[in-house]
Amino acid sequence: MNQTVSRSLTWVPKASEIAREAGARLREFFAQGVETEYKGDVDVVTVADRTAEELIRTRLGETFPDHGVYGEEGTRHGMDSEYRWYVDPLDGTTNFAHGFPQFCVSMGLEHRPAGLKPEEDGTLVAGVIYDPLRDELFCAEKGLGATLNGKPMRVSAITTLAESLLATGFPSRKRHASPNIHFYQEFTLRSHGVRRAGSAALDLAYVAAGRMEAFWEFNLNPWDTAAGILLVEEAGGQVTDFSGHHYAIDSQEILASNGRIQGELVALFDDMFAGRNLAPIPSAAEFAAERAARAGSKS
Ligand code: IPD
Ligand code: CA
Ligand code: CA
Repeated sequence: MNQTVSRSLTWVPKASEIAREAGARLREFFAQGVETEYKGDVDVVTVADRTAEELIRTRLGETFPDHGVYGEEGTRHGMDSEYRWYVDPLDGTTNFAHGFPQFCVSMGLEHRPAGLKPEEDGTLVAGVIYDPLRDELFCAEKGLGATLNGKPMRVSAITTLAESLLATGFPSRKRHASPNIHFYQEFTLRSHGVRRAGSAALDLAYVAAGRMEAFWEFNLNPWDTAAGILLVEEAGGQVTDFSGHHYAIDSQEILASNGRIQGELVALFDDMFAGRNLAPIPSAAEFAAERAARAGSKS
């Protein structure tokens, strides 16, 4: 199967080279340490983000001169092209800036046939996510499956939320406006746990690789998700919004899973949005009272 995949791939081989080259630059910056700059109140950026985006933009231009590039750090090139790359040159900048070793390069390719309106979605046809510290390369092309370092990868076979490991993330902008802390609590109580590792693209790659069963987040951007969505779908999983409907590339909600627990997750989102069936947990004050009572009964 692997041989068939590598013979038929159109974009992944070149995109992988570019992601590896950008990842190598990130690895150098990470080793030497970089200064943290602020884009907003808590939204950070570094010279590594900008350098990696510049490198990827240049290489994509040399390799696929007809393709457009839409990058987090400001690249808007060939926006009316038939093919468009969504590029996050460094997903996990906050981790990177603190020396926390969880970040990646993410590049997803959308096919936008002639006649598509600007607000309409094309089709994701290729995705590459590279973790330079673990030297892990996650790839997919539409219809050809997904691979991790050249070997086929599949989502996990777990069928219940109670046995699942999940992931989510929190926005760095307008934190107070995000309700996600409530979802974090509820999903944590009903699963093996929820990781918040700080790189949405790697979270999606891990769902595709069967390391976790699901990932959700509010308000991500196409550069965070484009590559990872195709990875999950090509590895046999499912990506929708929180209501279980079709995921649009600029959707404000993403819910990705191994497919087997998608229905259970959507039902829980429904309950939570409606305020039904929420698991009771003690408030801090109630917990303190119980703790004091336990201490009293021992003495
Ligand atoms: C962030 C990461 C993080 C997610 C944030 C993203 P960045 O991307 O993917 O996991 O929770 O919402 O903005 O800023 O490190 O590229
Ligand atoms: Ca990102
Ligand atoms: Ca980024």
